[in-house]
Amino acid sequence: MNKICIIGGCGHVGLPLGLAFASKGFFVTLVDLNSSAIDKVNKGELPFKEDGAEELLKSLVPKKIIASNDITLVKNQDVVIFVTGTPVDEHHTPKINEVLKVIRSYKKSLSKEQLIILRSTLFPGSTELIVKELENLLEETKLAFCPERILQGKALEEIFALPQIVAANSDKAYNEAAELFLKISPKIIRMEPREAELVKLMTNTWRYLEFAVSNAFYMIAENDGLDFYKIYKAIKDDYPRAKHFPSAGLTAGPCLFKDTMQLSAFYQNNFFLGQSAMLVNEGLPNFLIQQLEKKLGSLAEKQIALLGMTFKANNDDTRVSLSFKIKKILEFRMAKVLTHDPYLQNKMSLQETINSADGIILGVPHDEYKGIVPTAPYIDCWGIWPR
Ligand SMILES: NC(=O)c1ccc[n+]([C@@H]2O[C@H](COP(=O)([O-])OP(=O)(O)OC[C@H]3O[C@@H](n4cnc5c(N)ncnc54)[C@H](O)[C@@H]3O)[C@@H](O)[C@H]2O)c1
Repeated sequence: MNKICIIGGCGHVGLPLGLAFASKGFFVTLVDLNSSAIDKVNKGELPFKEDGAEELLKSLVPKKIIASNDITLVKNQDVVIFVTGTPVDEHHTPKINEVLKVIRSYKKSLSKEQLIILRSTLFPGSTELIVKELENLLEETKLAFCPERILQGKALEEIFALPQIVAANSDKAYNEAAELFLKISPKIIRMEPREAELVKLMTNTWRYLEFAVSNAFYMIAENDGLDFYKIYKAIKDDYPRAKHFPSAGLTAGPCLFKDTMQLSAFYQNNFFLGQSAMLVNEGLPNFLIQQLEKKLGSLAEKQIALLGMTFKANNDDTRVSLSFKIKKILEFRMAKVLTHDPYLQNKMSLQETINSADGIILGVPHDEYKGIVPTAPYIDCWGIWPR
């Protein structure tokens, strides 16, 4: 097993995974449809921010890793890994057909000799459906589901540190997948496909619920005029059971919300805890704006600076960022919104944005915002500015 192909290979999960395998001596082909990302990767540039990845890419391209939109390259590979997106629709129902469509579009290039690995986050039962889909074509499909659990931005650190969940449709497929992942993972945990699918969904849902608890507590305290972070620090102070209690903050991004909704759909929408967490996390933008209104009165015609437009700190990814929801609500209040983000193109510098603002909302606690002492009234649910 020397040649690995990653479908969706120029994405946030595919590229770090490809780099990890290439750094262990495999020859990796990243197949993707995004031509600008492909060009960048082949020039040794990252299409997005990921700690430590650019240096590694430069040292490996093109001898050990290449990117291409030529789907026929899949034919010559020992291992084919699928890691394209797994969206939910407007009713928060998983779009399994989108997943099957991708698999079907590569069917002709797959063979029974290849180990096929699914690495996207999958709705429970998807792996079984994909096995059936492929078995019509290949008599003995070797298929494994090996979900990705990295923290975006810290992918390379975590790929080599996290245990790898491996589920497969046969012992042969399991053994090959486990042997492959042992080259980059410290430990393999064997599961059945449905169990593994739930491991991934429950891991993300757990995190989403943790943030919802913090956000609910934040709103309870601040609504009563109290400083949540004074209470938060007291809860955590030398109290071991609250060690991992996260701060409040806008809980966004392409995974946590989506996967909580997938879990809810799996449980026939009876997962009220997940639905409640969604109401809390998605409701926080409204609460922050109400808090600003308490300080400023009507926001109509006021200039409101919104600092941080990405979905997480120190990253350039804007997918499913709640800052855009805040922006829309502010515009509905007829406020003039001045957005700024150090990782995106800006109309004004940070200082100009702050100086022009009647009020400020901190969308994301990028390091660049940590030293600021805002002069206009502000709302900071992350607790990085003085109270
Ligand atoms: N981003 C994360 O931190 C993270 C972590 C764990 C798991 N996941 C899961 O991994 C999967 C991928 O997420 P992502 O964040 O990498 O998405 P992404 O959008 O960054 O990457 C997906 C890539 O697939 C490409 N693509 C789409 N259709 C294709 C096709 N038919 N053939 C080839 N390439 C195609 C896109 O151009 C894109 O580059 C999702 O299921 C997600 O839930 C993401």
